Amino acid sequence: MAERYGNIIGWGKYVPERVVTNADFEKMLDTSDEWIVTRTGIHERRHASQDENTSQMSTAAARDALEIAGVRPKDLDLIIVATSTPDHLTPPVSSQVQHMLGAGNVGAFTLVTGCTGFVYALATAQQFIASGTADNVLVVGAELISRFVDWEDRATCVLFGDGAGAVVVQATDEPSGVLSFVLGSDGSGAEHLILPAGGAAIPVSHEVLVKGQHYLQMNGREVFKFATRVLGKSLRQAIAEAGLTSKDIDLIVPHQANIRIIESAARKAKLPMEKVFVNIQKYGNTSAASIPIALCEALEEGRAKVGDTLAFVSFGAGLTWASAIVKLAERKQPVRKRKWQFPILKWFSRNGVVEEEEAKEEQGVPVN
Ligand code: UT7
Repeated sequence: MAERYGNIIGWGKYVPERVVTNADFEKMLDTSDEWIVTRTGIHERRHASQDENTSQMSTAAARDALEIAGVRPKDLDLIIVATSTPDHLTPPVSSQVQHMLGAGNVGAFTLVTGCTGFVYALATAQQFIASGTADNVLVVGAELISRFVDWEDRATCVLFGDGAGAVVVQATDEPSGVLSFVLGSDGSGAEHLILPAGGAAIPVSHEVLVKGQHYLQMNGREVFKFATRVLGKSLRQAIAEAGLTSKDIDLIVPHQANIRIIESAARKAKLPMEKVFVNIQKYGNTSAASIPIALCEALEEGRAKVGDTLAFVSFGAGLTWASAIVKLAERKQPVRKRKWQFPILKWFSRNGVVEEEEAKEEQGVPVN
């Protein structure tokens, strides 16, 4: 039986129209364009309008990805949405996206690992495809962080932006998709990047609002040190696990958090900056959306193309880190092991047992 790989066959992005420049922040905070640009590389970011939310941005990015892939929403087998800023704590935003897309009643879940969410989700999608349980998986990274930052905290609010990116991953027997990945976490650094209240530990209360514990809080310096420590290492590990060397990587698509962190990761992986895709200047840090948005733009601009081997590298809240080596292969006829592997068994289990039991249940007959 041929191996199954998850090739990325479609990509899409959505960013809100509203551009917020560093000059806009200069008007409301004790900050400067010069500080923000030299310390982070950010010139502007996008902020969602009041009538936009995470499910809409995710759905818009997903629609574009599905169109490029030529996959209908109802042909999806699984939907994974990586986000830390969903519409609601519950229900999961993934089910909203499934509904808004008009996908079938397939499994959909939200994955929360902060800025590393998209890479975690892509590695997860690959497992579903490799195991033969899914042929077409939609992976979305989306964030609406502007609703969670303290507008008086100059050390965080200037950094983040809103947006969504999506890919369609399809089963193929061509070695492609996630060739290797490195996932890691270190919860001992949880307090360095945290939204303290609103969860079970500290429910929302008057006191929470007074103290501003419903806003994202970050110890930038500690996160910076952590990022420069883990990024280069996890990238080198992922390259080695794919059986490759730095020379085999055509383009790094890193999490866009800070240009200085990106430069450090490239240096440690012995890759020149010409091989790194950077768009932080336009969007700031869009957390779990940053890599799929950057991938989308790299493909649109011809910086990445079919046949290329890419490296995704990210870090974020948790603290977590995630790197993946991803091959973009020529699109082939999709492999459909799931549909024909055990046709008689499938027919029997679906049409026989399940339908018989459903009919009994509807009639109020107890089912064993
Ligand atoms: O996706 C993961 C999310 N997190 C990150 O990516 C954050 C990683 N960390 C960073 O990117 C950097 O640490 C920052 C950009 C957040 C900060 O840069 P830094 O070079 O580490 O600056 P710092 O925190 O050491 O602050 C230096 C100074 C401080 O003033 P004092 O104490 O030296 O007087 C800050 O108060 O810069 C001040 N500062 C600002 N000044 C002007 C902090 N934010 C601003 C600001 N404008 N927006």
